[in-house]
Amino acid sequence: MPMSWAYSTSRQRGEESLRAVHRALDMGVTLLDTADMYGPFTNELLVGRVLKERRSDAFVSTKVGLLVGEQHIVANGRPGYVRRACDASLRRLQTDVIDLYQLHRADPEVPVEETWGAMAELVRAGKVRALGLCAVGARGGRRSGARLYDGTIRQLERVQQVFPVGAVQAELSVWSPEALRSLLPWCAARGVGFLAAMPLGNGFLTGTLTPGQGFEPDDLRARHPRFTAEMMAANQPIVAGLRRVAARHGEDVTPGQVALAWVLAQGSHVVPVPGAKRERWVVENAGAADLRLTHEDLAELGRLPAARGSWD
Ligand SMILES: NC(=O)c1ccc[n+]([C@@H]2O[C@H](COP(=O)([O-])OP(=O)(O)OC[C@H]3O[C@@H](n4cnc5c(N)ncnc54)[C@H](OP(=O)(O)O)[C@@H]3O)[C@@H](O)[C@H]2O)c1
Repeated sequence: MPMSWAYSTSRQRGEESLRAVHRALDMGVTLLDTADMYGPFTNELLVGRVLKERRSDAFVSTKVGLLVGEQHIVANGRPGYVRRACDASLRRLQTDVIDLYQLHRADPEVPVEETWGAMAELVRAGKVRALGLCAVGARGGRRSGARLYDGTIRQLERVQQVFPVGAVQAELSVWSPEALRSLLPWCAARGVGFLAAMPLGNGFLTGTLTPGQGFEPDDLRARHPRFTAEMMAANQPIVAGLRRVAARHGEDVTPGQVALAWVLAQGSHVVPVPGAKRERWVVENAGAADLRLTHEDLAELGRLPAARGSWD
């Protein structure tokens, strides 16, 4: 996502991003997670350039259901739209099948069963291999209660009646652990995969951001309640905790790698989906797969203070 969307446009570097994706595949990373709305469309086009050359190296997941306008994003879950959007994604991705097709957001105007039914037809038509559903999270700032994902679970129960859910995608990281309470157990009990979005806390958990550094106006963090100068300073104890654990594993181990290893430790059905546009980050992030956190590490990370946001 950061390669094409939601983070500073001026820092997007198409060719470097392309190298980063190739490097990830070279290192044995297989999951490429994109969405038609990232760009919009340009991220799928970028992934398509890679898939054209090495489709068999990748498991490609994309998303449908959100349309980007000049100033707004709207949901569209109408079956006819879903069918057209899938064909367009296949063209951009330069492939004849999508491994995982995810409903980005349910359309409040369309019963979710109808949208999901259209997606199931795509599986039957051989255009898609499995279906996934993305959850709406805490919107970054508010301390979320235990019931944050109740609505998602109700949606999952409904769509399961129509066609099996292959994977759920939702935010999960050391500073956004809410999915552990109900969503992860729901997935684990049914053999459903879990894609952990924003596992690096939009970059904060890597310890490379400085409170007050400022963000370009088109960067989501410019309006994110955890990224005001005050809240970035208030949340430093979380980075300090990651650093302490990293130091126990060697001087080359980074806080970001600990953050990703924490996600990996949450279950064999959990796959972190870090976003990065630089090759250097991709190499570092892939290295987290070799980091084994101890019970002591996990207990210490579990005791970190809750993230604070300016909306709290
Ligand atoms: N389903 C949904 O609704 C939803 C919502 C959000 C995200 N997602 C998925 O989750 C993925 C990850 O989310 P995300 O990219 O927003 O958040 P993230 O992975 O938590 O953080 C991305 C940020 O971390 C930086 N970064 C990555 N690796 C780094 C490293 N090793 N050292 C220092 N900085 C590093 C990136 O910098 P650079 O930009 O400089 O590379 C980028 O600014 C997305 O790509 C998308 O697939 C899904």
